Amino acid sequence: MPTSKSGRSRSTAAGADADASGTADAAADVQPDQQPRSLDACRRCALWKNATQAVPGAGPKHAPIILVGEQPGDKEDLAGKPFVGPAGALLDHALEQAGVARHDVYVTNAVKHFKWTPRGKRRMHKTPAQREIDACAYWLEKELQSTGARVIVALGVTALKAVLEDKNVRMQDVLGRPIKHGEYSVVATYHPSFALRAPDPETRERAFAAIVDALRQAGKLV
Ligand code: URA
Repeated sequence: MPTSKSGRSRSTAAGADADASGTADAAADVQPDQQPRSLDACRRCALWKNATQAVPGAGPKHAPIILVGEQPGDKEDLAGKPFVGPAGALLDHALEQAGVARHDVYVTNAVKHFKWTPRGKRRMHKTPAQREIDACAYWLEKELQSTGARVIVALGVTALKAVLEDKNVRMQDVLGRPIKHGEYSVVATYHPSFALRAPDPETRERAFAAIVDALRQAGKLV
């Protein structure tokens, strides 16, 4: 059983996961206890079925800072790379403003498959369930270990729940304030999509400034 960032043993929290249809056949495609060697082989939850491919993290092999988003979006699902769509462009801009080079940070997601629902011809983002976040913690753990990162920036509440291993944590309780989690310093901030899509310009500007500030803090913590 994998050991988590905070040293706890992770249960295979994917639990009795099945896909939306909930049928016995669908459940057979999900192996919550699986310890896959490759992301492509991962069946720890059902999200692999409707995704084009798994999207691994990207960045240097060893990186002091890891940025964790929620899950790949439509563009990332097609490209097989994280944060290459509109949210990624905003993140790049924020990194630049913060004076942090993207090639110096490792960028990944709490959940490695795109979860979506059809709307006409479009694939609309669907927030991952807690069991999917828990199932995918297996991969986040490996990325934390392989990169040797000690500073984590959690982009949005899904990432925050995954990083702190706490399904009840609220963004407003930790926003922009570095906290310790085991051996890691964690800075939580808004998801770039929020800074793109918040209904009013003031909120978008404030969210963007908060993301820049979080990235700057992460840079100083290294
Ligand atoms: N949103 C995310 O959380 N991650 C991506 O990779 C793209 C959009």
